[in-house]
Amino acid sequence: MKYFKNIAVILFFASALASCNTKNKSVTNTDGDTNRKWWKEAVVYQIYPRSFKDSNGDGVGDLKGIISELDYIKSLGIDAIWLNPIYSSPNDDNGYDISDYRNIMKEFGTMDDFNSLLKGMHDRGIKLVMDLVVNHSSDEHAWFKQSRSSRTSPYRDYYHWWNADRGKPAYRYSLFDINHDAWKYDSLTDAYYLHYFSRKQPDLNWENPKLRNEVYDIMKFWLDKGIDGFRMDAFQFVAKDTTFPAFPAGFEKNFIKYYAMVPPIHDYLKEMNREVFSRYNAMSVAEGAGNSFEDAHNLVDEDRKELNMAYAFEGVDIAKPEGYSLLHFKEVFSRWDSAFADKGWLSIYLANHDQARLVSRFGNDSPEFRDVSSKMLSTFLMTMRGTPYYYNGDELGMTNIRFDKIEDYRDMPTLNEYQHQKDIGGDIKKFMENIKFSCRDNGRTPFQWDASGNAGFTTGNPWIKINSDYTTVNVASEEKDINSCLNYFRKIVKLRKENDALIYGKYIMLDKDNPDVYAYTRELNGKKFLVLLNFTSKTAKYNIGLDISQAKILIDNYISLLKDGQLQAYEAVVVEL
Ligand code: NOJ
Repeated sequence: MKYFKNIAVILFFASALASCNTKNKSVTNTDGDTNRKWWKEAVVYQIYPRSFKDSNGDGVGDLKGIISELDYIKSLGIDAIWLNPIYSSPNDDNGYDISDYRNIMKEFGTMDDFNSLLKGMHDRGIKLVMDLVVNHSSDEHAWFKQSRSSRTSPYRDYYHWWNADRGKPAYRYSLFDINHDAWKYDSLTDAYYLHYFSRKQPDLNWENPKLRNEVYDIMKFWLDKGIDGFRMDAFQFVAKDTTFPAFPAGFEKNFIKYYAMVPPIHDYLKEMNREVFSRYNAMSVAEGAGNSFEDAHNLVDEDRKELNMAYAFEGVDIAKPEGYSLLHFKEVFSRWDSAFADKGWLSIYLANHDQARLVSRFGNDSPEFRDVSSKMLSTFLMTMRGTPYYYNGDELGMTNIRFDKIEDYRDMPTLNEYQHQKDIGGDIKKFMENIKFSCRDNGRTPFQWDASGNAGFTTGNPWIKINSDYTTVNVASEEKDINSCLNYFRKIVKLRKENDALIYGKYIMLDKDNPDVYAYTRELNGKKFLVLLNFTSKTAKYNIGLDISQAKILIDNYISLLKDGQLQAYEAVVVEL
């Protein structure tokens, strides 16, 4: 789980129901998943609330800010919003450390604001998917305070403790800890507690049925308010072998193999489905899909009654500071597609709040190519099978900020790793170069609304610096330009929504060995679309063995027309055959 490629690259990771108003019938499709569901047809737009829009001048985005922009969000044509955590939190990890699951983080507003947000969304036909962070809580949660208070507390077994009289437990790797050690000694009860993430994010003990019931109650609390689903944070890690056996030396290089999908995770999921999901009209998507297609299928296949979707990391992890091979990219996405062609459903994404910016990682953010390459990547995301998850700001073609100084970074694991590298005499110059490309703060700079001071994000001091390209890359100026990234995004979303073939249709890759062009068809019930994408900054030729001279061009990111047999730099074209 390479949430933050910077750290991943440099160190230890050697290498991360229900149908609603939709037509609830099957698509006559012999080539894939045949069962219509709203969440398969949805385009999900992810909002990082801290950076979206600040309504009260404290420099931090908030719920009222999102409410004020609901018409903008609606105008994108998306169907659902995935909101990163908005619950009470001391913000060690920007809300992924929850101290009260039934309350709203002070900086973000109040429960009344939340109710208005949900109503405003539903009035506009937009669904809300919330983050469920239950692999761990905050160490400031009342459960943890109780749990650490004594060895005999009724909350002791809500977390994983190892009494020091037994010696030190076997090493567990922490993704966020300064020393990478997931066991933190606590002198209060002379014991260690487990934290796969930071010390302020102790892991919850899912073996304890009381804890599991608490989680189900929390889920019901939000579902009863009318939310439409959950994105389940780090869920593949919740089950642990609580005898904590020693793992082979160096296991951390491949820690997912040891941490993910440990039995009895499927029992927990079946129980959760029975207790919660089966009683609501709600969707579920897991962060992480285990180690294999089998793991992924075991999470999402409908007859198993566990989850609806998962997202796998293999695709998003392809981009490296030194570039990536399109052949590799094509192979990975084709392999995942074929593994789910007949059964199961996944998501499609290339960016989120744990990644640097889409265009900077997978496209080309130079002034010459930022616009076309970001449109090309949006075309890819909106024409593949799977539910697209699209990160806020990518519709504008927002780019990496590339901080030079460590003082500008805000991301806790990055700051911890910087310190760790200093402690072990690591290559700080290389570290700083890497995080310019990959640190997730690049994707968290404030949303760019207009060319006024602070990009229209806040009237105060933004919690993290604003990218200086905001004077040109912003909503106000892109609204005025019919050929902007923003308006292109609206068109490509509309194209997907109007054509079932782009959602459910069979995917076939063409010109497989072409290192520059990604070409594929999507086909359903006699309707066939061809997608041609040039992933390079040069003119590229393609050879697809199809006559497209009579084909209807549905969208093209260049104003000039498609030239037969070749594409301009980062050209993206969708034609109907
Ligand atoms: C995954 C989330 O996406 C990430 O932002 C967070 O830091 C970790 N899980 C820990 O909750």
